[in-house]
Amino acid sequence: MPDRVISPPSADEVRNLLRAVIDPELGANIVDLAMATDVEVSPEGVITIGVKLTIKGCPLRAQIKNDIESRLETHPGVSKVKITWGEMTADERSEVMTKARWNARENASDTAVPNSARVLAIASGKGGVGKSSVTANLAVALAAHGHVVGVLDADIWGFSIPRMLGMSDRLEARRVDGVEKPRIIPNERKVGTGLLKVVSTGMLVEDEGTALMWRGLMLTKAVEQFLNDVHWGDLDYLLIDMPPGTGDVQMGLARMLPRTDLIIVTTPAVSAQKVAIRAADMARRSFLRVAGVIENMSHFTCEHGTTYPLFGQGGGTTLANEIGAELLGQVPIENAVAHGSDTGEPVALSGSSAAADVFRSIAKKIIAATVPVTDMAGCSARLLESVEVALGKKPA
Ligand SMILES: Nc1ncnc2c1ncn2[C@@H]1O[C@H](COP(=O)(O)OP(=O)(O)O)[C@@H](O)[C@H]1O
Ligand SMILES: [Mg+2]
Repeated sequence: MPDRVISPPSADEVRNLLRAVIDPELGANIVDLAMATDVEVSPEGVITIGVKLTIKGCPLRAQIKNDIESRLETHPGVSKVKITWGEMTADERSEVMTKARWNARENASDTAVPNSARVLAIASGKGGVGKSSVTANLAVALAAHGHVVGVLDADIWGFSIPRMLGMSDRLEARRVDGVEKPRIIPNERKVGTGLLKVVSTGMLVEDEGTALMWRGLMLTKAVEQFLNDVHWGDLDYLLIDMPPGTGDVQMGLARMLPRTDLIIVTTPAVSAQKVAIRAADMARRSFLRVAGVIENMSHFTCEHGTTYPLFGQGGGTTLANEIGAELLGQVPIENAVAHGSDTGEPVALSGSSAAADVFRSIAKKIIAATVPVTDMAGCSARLLESVEVALGKKPA
């Protein structure tokens, strides 16, 4: 590719990117919370941002810093990010409280995906690498830890989630909480103490064959409807099973849910890994972060214990290194994976196999990354608590 000069983002563009940085405790973005103040952009692409913390020495500072840097660095015109830290005055703090309160109320109305949910889109450069299998298995593995896991099947024409999760009931729509417009109610399935909430176009049509009728439907419109018109209620995670190789849905997601992180699935073959880089490139262009890479169909171990790298070797590691993301796991080829997908009982649900273990360990990594191990005392967590008390959600 020829070298070309990439211009730095405008201050407004920077603010837009910062809207994806959510204060984990207050559940709103740092721009709306007026935590990110002055934004300066130098012609060389050095971004200087003033960030006001609720209190100095807030333990979330490192996390907010990482988040800001990784969001801004998705823009190719950004060369460096400098943060100058400040502390809010008592007045500013009480204003943030008001905003957080408003925000908590917004969340309570269940208008869309709740701010508290971690959104992970499972993507790849092409079909058939195991996106849907990964989505279904991670969903049950996360739910098995007691979490409420939403699954949005964004593969509008090629849906396979209903079959893989054994959930094919028609979706119903009804009025919720006195709101005029009917909302789509996701299908639910209990997993241990956790819960799956699933929507798919496969739950709208009579059978998988009828899916062809959806060809006329605009992909992004359908996904938008699932994001806005579904009564998701409480969610800890939302997993989005992406359609293969289309940029439209990804761009749409970036616009509607900019805090979406991508998990990129690849096979070990070098060719597949090249294709997967395209998905990562698309992520970069739509300013989404990549949460990690999963190598699927890594190898096959026969009953005598000999391991064969059927589809090549090293694709996952190479891809992860190339895009600077973590290799979350390598899932072997197993009949149990395919069988689980066909019977609606994903192998990670109850299977004892190498693949099941890998899926479970990836779920654990996701959970570990979601809950920052920080001492919340005295920081925005306290503020949130007072907000909840004020709203009557928690006893004083
Ligand atoms: N690790 C695996 N071992 C065996 N079969 C697999 C594995 N991962 C996926 N499959 C099978 O490969 C096919 C394609 O997987 P799928 O998840 O539908 O891919 P995608 O959603 O990327 O198109 C399915 O039949 C699935 O059961
Ligand atoms: Mg699929």
